[in-house]
Amino acid sequence: MNKKKIFLLSFLLLILLVASAGAEDRRVLQCRVLARDFMTELKGELKSALRSGRTVKALSVCSKVAPELAARYSLHPKVQVGRTSERCRNPENRPDSWEKVGLALLEKRRLQGETLAGMEYWQEVEDGGKRSFRYLRAIPTGSLCLRCHGEKIGSKLKKELRRIYSEDRAVGFRLDELRGAFTITLSQ
Ligand code: HEC
Repeated sequence: MNKKKIFLLSFLLLILLVASAGAEDRRVLQCRVLARDFMTELKGELKSALRSGRTVKALSVCSKVAPELAARYSLHPKVQVGRTSERCRNPENRPDSWEKVGLALLEKRRLQGETLAGMEYWQEVEDGGKRSFRYLRAIPTGSLCLRCHGEKIGSKLKKELRRIYSEDRAVGFRLDELRGAFTITLSQ
């Protein structure tokens, strides 16, 4: 192969690399925007419910609003948005095998001292011949969250939680622990 051909080939390879990196960057950006908007809306609803009523009342905001928001953000047939966790309150949010691996990686990075805010993990996956782009964004446990996910939960709230979520595992969290992750799938 002469020099000209080698140059042409490496040039083509570079173009291919840039093009594929660009596609991934676009998808990462799309996921970041979706996760940020979802988080902002949900936190806003939660804060105003906690401000205007008692925690037991705010519970219904969480159990209704969170799944509604997830459904609304997933209206586009190629976009799936939700929340997941190693320890779930609602069994419908339980992680699948890809999410389990991702959550474990996020937790490992946290234990190694990395800050949770903005921590992400993504991968292009192929399942049964279908390719998709999957993305997780860490959800830290803030002080607001401890009221319903912390170690000390009021007895009335505890009772109500037990009534609605018989398999609740989302209690006993401490400040700044990994509560879970926003999970986004972009199908191709
Ligand atoms: C008023 C009580 C309440 C507060 C405060 C609260 N949550 Fe929740 N959380 C819930 C309920 C109820 C669910 C179950 C929602 C559902 O059915 O999808 C839930 C579910 C979740 C889930 C989905 C995984 C699972 O366990 O099913 C995550 C992640 C989560 N909460 C994070 C947080 C974070 C982070 C905060 C603080 C910013 C917070 N929550 C504050 C009540 C609360």
